[in-house]
Amino acid sequence: MTNKLWASAVVLCFLNLTLEVRDGVGMTKENPRVCIVGAGYSGLGTARYMKDYGVDFKVFEATKHVGGTWRFDPHVGTDEDGLPLFTSMYKNLRINTPRLTMEYTGFPFPEGTQSFPTGECFYKYLKRFAKQFDLIKHIQFQSYITSIKWDKNHWNVTYTKVDTKENRSEECDFVVVSNGEFSTPIWPKFEGQEAFKGKMIHSHDYKDPEDYRDRRVLVVGAGPSGLDLAMHLSNVTSRLVHSHHLKYNQPFFSDTYIKKPDIQLFTSNGVFFQDNTFEEIDDVIFSTGYEFAHPFLDRSVGITATGKFLLPLYQHTVNIRHPTMLFVGIPKKVLNSVIEAQGEYAAALAAGKFKLPSQEQMLKAWLAHVRVMKARGLKIVDVNVIGSDMDNYFANLTAEAGIYRRPKVLTAIRDFNAVFRLENLLTYRDYDYKIIDDERYEKWYNPRPGNPCPLND
Ligand SMILES: Cc1cc2nc3c(=O)[nH]c(=O)nc-3n(C[C@H](O)[C@H](O)[C@H](O)COP(=O)(O)OP(=O)(O)OC[C@H]3O[C@@H](n4cnc5c(N)ncnc54)[C@H](O)[C@@H]3O)c2cc1C
Ligand SMILES: *[C@@H]1O[C@H](CO)[C@@H](O)[C@H](O)[C@H]1NC(C)=O
Ligand SMILES: *[C@@H]1O[C@H](CO)[C@@H](O)[C@H](O)[C@H]1NC(C)=O
Ligand SMILES: *[C@@H]1O[C@H](CO)[C@@H](O)[C@H](O)[C@H]1NC(C)=O
Ligand SMILES: *[C@@H]1O[C@H](CO)[C@@H](O)[C@H](O)[C@H]1NC(C)=O
Repeated sequence: MTNKLWASAVVLCFLNLTLEVRDGVGMTKENPRVCIVGAGYSGLGTARYMKDYGVDFKVFEATKHVGGTWRFDPHVGTDEDGLPLFTSMYKNLRINTPRLTMEYTGFPFPEGTQSFPTGECFYKYLKRFAKQFDLIKHIQFQSYITSIKWDKNHWNVTYTKVDTKENRSEECDFVVVSNGEFSTPIWPKFEGQEAFKGKMIHSHDYKDPEDYRDRRVLVVGAGPSGLDLAMHLSNVTSRLVHSHHLKYNQPFFSDTYIKKPDIQLFTSNGVFFQDNTFEEIDDVIFSTGYEFAHPFLDRSVGITATGKFLLPLYQHTVNIRHPTMLFVGIPKKVLNSVIEAQGEYAAALAAGKFKLPSQEQMLKAWLAHVRVMKARGLKIVDVNVIGSDMDNYFANLTAEAGIYRRPKVLTAIRDFNAVFRLENLLTYRDYDYKIIDDERYEKWYNPRPGNPCPLND
């Protein structure tokens, strides 16, 4: 099955490429007009470098706001303008990797900020970034992209003006897609789920622990959100049932917390687990993650886009079929610094600071990546994973595009934190990290009650 999938993906790309090479199009033109989709961390980071390099660009943002998922929005389902709600932020969130691994290059938080500030604080940081680099005037808000098509020699980008409901199209020479990867929930399906009478939500719609005070709640999953919810809810609910199969050093959450294996089936008032035990439940929160969604990509874009993977992308960012389209923010199991580096790479390309290899060479490089992944026993859904190759990836981007080399120490911090976090879930955010040089860092215990944020609006 896996092999078949890989094979069909590869064939698919070859077909696309043959057509394209015959067309002989695709290289970046001089002084291109760049269009960026989304003003979250990825779009803002990219915009900053476009500006640095003197490129003509415009950001299309669906909402009235910058900051993407980092903006807490009390609405559920649709926002104030009736748009699907893109942000997945909830109260009391603190970032889960040290801020050093998320900060934009040359734009640190104020000295003395804790290493794991709150989500609210990170949102303030993003707003300050947009102001500092004077990006707001380049952003066209309330512009919801509905279609991107390749039309002979340019991109036709179509959007709905959310305030007037009018549809408009614009021509762009170069497109950066950075619409976020954590907005579309994955909903698992279990036997009896329709019979369950309680409330079921996905963590995308979870906002505030107070909504669950004194209730019997089931949290499903132990990814970043599942573990956060266990912490945030266990002392609020009357019973917190946590179904997952993560192996980690489970801390003492509270007397009312109970760990369960995977779900077997739902009844009208509760859940049977794989160990045949039963729990009565009032509310369910599926913390079961997110999938990609790029509904606006027309077939002419030449990308195979599914909820689980996108291909073929050269350097995890360039659309090989039409190399004037880059995706920023797709790689999995990476730090935000990777996204930031991709933004700089996109800007360097748009500015003509470097030239891409031919489409055949890019496809060859991508196929080599696919072979390596396959040899490691990975599946096609892992085609966008960088993971343990992160430092090599930074090196590769720099070697090709001449952009700033993100230091090895970031990968060292990432690798350490990934393990330390699961060993010390309740306390790992109370450490401060400091970079000593390109390879070394230090850390020390420094809890800050109340999580103060030195940034204001
Ligand atoms: C709850 C949560 C916690 C997280 N915590 C961490 C963490 O601690 N550390 C970490 O490194 N990462 C974390 N992440 C990952 C996080 O997604 C990244 O940090 C980063 O915010 C990604 O930015 P982005 O710009 O790619 O996406 P987003 O922040 O989602 O921004 C995308 C933007 O595009 C806009 N948009 C979407 N569709 C369209 C359209 N069709 N037309 C126009 N505009 C559109 C949206 O309105 C939004 O403003 C977390 C994610 C979530 C959901
Ligand atoms: C651009 O695409 C839109 C939506 O598909 C279409 O309605 C419009 O006619 C196109 N514009 C041009 C100039 O082709
Ligand atoms: C605008 O585009 C959207 C999405 O493609 C479509 O559903 C809607 O009908 C269009 N509105 C108008 C006024 O044409
Ligand atoms: C819940 O409260 C108890 C008692 O005050 C405390 O020991 C425990 O650490 C709290 N749990 C969490 C996850 O904060
Ligand atoms: C870096 O480049 C080398 C040489 O082209 C390649 O083999 C490797 O897969 C690349 N690694 C990453 C993570 O991109």
